[in-house]
Amino acid sequence: MYVCICNGVTDRDIRQAAESGCRGMTELTMRTGAGASCGSCIEMATSILDETAAQLQPVPLEMLSVAA
Ligand code: FES
Repeated sequence: MYVCICNGVTDRDIRQAAESGCRGMTELTMRTGAGASCGSCIEMATSILDETAAQLQPVPLEMLSVAA
């Protein structure tokens, strides 16, 4: 779905940015243009970015030793 109508940025674009290391709205704006115009998408874009980044957190070492 389109998150940023002004700049044609989708939720998929935001997730891809997060997967490639983007961790903040300023960086997301530089990479995709999201939020660079009216700004009404910033809250949703930030939410998608944060949710995706949280899912990408590395597994703690303690968890790896339990799984082995
Ligand atoms: S909807 Fe994203 S800047 Fe306007």
